[in-house]
Amino acid sequence: MIFENRIAVITGAAGRIGRATAELFAQYGVALALADIAPEKLNVLVDELREKGANVRGYMVNVRDMESVKTFADQVLADFGKIDILVNNAGVWKPSLLSETPYELWEEMIDLNLNGVFRVTNAFLPVMLNNGYGRIINLTSIAGEVGLPKFGAYSTSKAGVLIYSKTLAMELAKKNITVNCVSPGMIWDVVQSPTKTTWLERTGLGKDVARNIVFLASDNASYITGVDHTVDGGRILGPRFSDV
Ligand SMILES: NC(=O)c1ccc[n+]([C@@H]2O[C@H](COP(=O)([O-])OP(=O)(O)OC[C@H]3O[C@@H](n4cnc5c(N)ncnc54)[C@H](O)[C@@H]3O)[C@@H](O)[C@H]2O)c1
Repeated sequence: MIFENRIAVITGAAGRIGRATAELFAQYGVALALADIAPEKLNVLVDELREKGANVRGYMVNVRDMESVKTFADQVLADFGKIDILVNNAGVWKPSLLSETPYELWEEMIDLNLNGVFRVTNAFLPVMLNNGYGRIINLTSIAGEVGLPKFGAYSTSKAGVLIYSKTLAMELAKKNITVNCVSPGMIWDVVQSPTKTTWLERTGLGKDVARNIVFLASDNASYITGVDHTVDGGRILGPRFSDV
């Protein structure tokens, strides 16, 4: 994959998908501004990547807090001078039947997963617009495509990210900024196999998602915008009525 002197921002970088994405970007020589609300996990990742020779910095950021996000964007610009790639990956899912969901939980899911994407994107967009280049990748979910019982607030937040991303892709198309989504499903820390929960009969790892994020961020994907790229082992292909 082709990267020409690129700087990437990843939110929620210390989690399973964020970490794998940071590791893969580093292998391609992409400089990294890694944000997470959990400083211990983040520092371990930053140290590991630095030891391998990566140009990387860690930032403690809460995507729910506008001031925290603004300070983050200012600091990244001061440290790196520009930003080319933004991966809006920070996200949390908490279960609750919609009929029993307390307003606080609903608000948390929408504010973190959807408003967080809006806050971070708006903080970095002026720089991308100024540079006339940008690759934005937003993490959606198969739950945001088809819905998921007990995760209604989460699914709704991710459906919002999808339509936000498609609309932004249209609005930014003339500015050489692409906006795409990666929609994971069944991504765990260890592979579960065999399993009937996916057609590929295994669950996925962070690196399965990372490969697709990094592709959409690369110059190889310059003619792709507004897509929602599903990475779920065929989970939402259709029901398994019988073994085949
Ligand atoms: N794992 C899956 O199967 C799956 C499926 C569909 C979608 N996704 C999406 O992919 C993304 C990453 O998922 P993951 O499995 O790596 O999750 P994860 O829980 O391993 O990592 C999420 C990271 O986000 C950070 N975070 C939480 N709140 C934050 C905040 N307010 N500000 C900044 N950082 C914050 C956490 O500290 C954590 O490091 C999420 O958006 C998730 O909704 C994951």
